[in-house]
Amino acid sequence: MLPDPARIEEAVALLNAGGLVAFPTETVYGLGADARNPAAVARIFAAKGRPVSHPLIVHISGIAAAQEWIADLPDSARRLADAFWPGPLTIVLPKAVGVPAAITGGQSTVALRAPAHPVARALLAAFGGGIAAPSANRYGRISPTCAADVHEELGDRVALVLDGGPCEVGLESTIVACLGGRVTLLRPGAVSRSQLEDVVGPIADADASSPRVPGRDRSHYAPRTALAIINAAELLPQIDRALAAGERLAVIARSSAPVISDQLVWRQLDKQPAGYGRTLYAALRELDRAGAARILVEDVPDDEPWAAIADRLRRAAAQGADGAVTDAT
Ligand code: TXA
Ligand code: MG
Repeated sequence: MLPDPARIEEAVALLNAGGLVAFPTETVYGLGADARNPAAVARIFAAKGRPVSHPLIVHISGIAAAQEWIADLPDSARRLADAFWPGPLTIVLPKAVGVPAAITGGQSTVALRAPAHPVARALLAAFGGGIAAPSANRYGRISPTCAADVHEELGDRVALVLDGGPCEVGLESTIVACLGGRVTLLRPGAVSRSQLEDVVGPIADADASSPRVPGRDRSHYAPRTALAIINAAELLPQIDRALAAGERLAVIARSSAPVISDQLVWRQLDKQPAGYGRTLYAALRELDRAGAARILVEDVPDDEPWAAIADRLRRAAAQGADGAVTDAT
């Protein structure tokens, strides 16, 4: 969907006035504010209900615009930006002096990303500065992948939602840190580990010394309905038992429904990871509204193209409706 110049102009006026604008990226929708305006950034945290210690990604147009935000551009980061920007990759770097603490959660690093969506690019070009933006959902909830999802999450907490259609990727960006001579994978996403390694060589996994990424909390990205990941061979027996017990179930799988029942809501997603990832969050939202006692998700292959999907499913399964950790059986 192409940018509408009048809406972009309206969005820029709002950003300049310290307001919030939700906008599409190719990953998920973001809730944006002028990254140089701490009062505007504070409105993001209020609208999301997010703890202020959680740092935000600064969205920029590209590598040239990165310089004002960072103290150092290691060769690894330059190569990654050259290879994957604009695109679904966020790079954590040492921050420049004067970057507002509201953005960085008081840390010494800043996360930067140049998104590829034409509406995001038009907005960044017209605004001229960095736009701080987390995913445009209430804290701890599923990221929005279309404009209607943003309205559902934030209602009148956001002044304007730019509609760029459904997101192409549908899962949040890959996050890497380029710090202290090491490249560390902090969050898996559409840019895979091997794509990163093709550019910069071996990369490390996050450990206790890595920058904190609250998006890695186990309970993030969760629907309200309890969700469990089920081995494909166990799915049918589980469904039989639940239906026999009169339970209403929702299921996400890569195959079609094996039984028809008005107690069963079935969403079949793509067999390929790109298509699956694009529609997963929309399916979770839909099934969250289905009035089911549980959402069962058929487990996904344990290989690299599915890594980001497996990561988000694990987090969604970590918290049920009552906040309890759900049992996968
Ligand atoms: O695809 C995306 O990344 C979307 C779109 C809107 O760009 N944004 C997004 O933002 O997912 P958010 O805030 O929901 O998740 C960003 C994650 C958070 O877990 C945050 O803690 C982490 O990035 N982060 C931000 N700055 C960081 C930093 N300086 N060091 C480590 N982690 C950081
Ligand atoms: Mg988020």
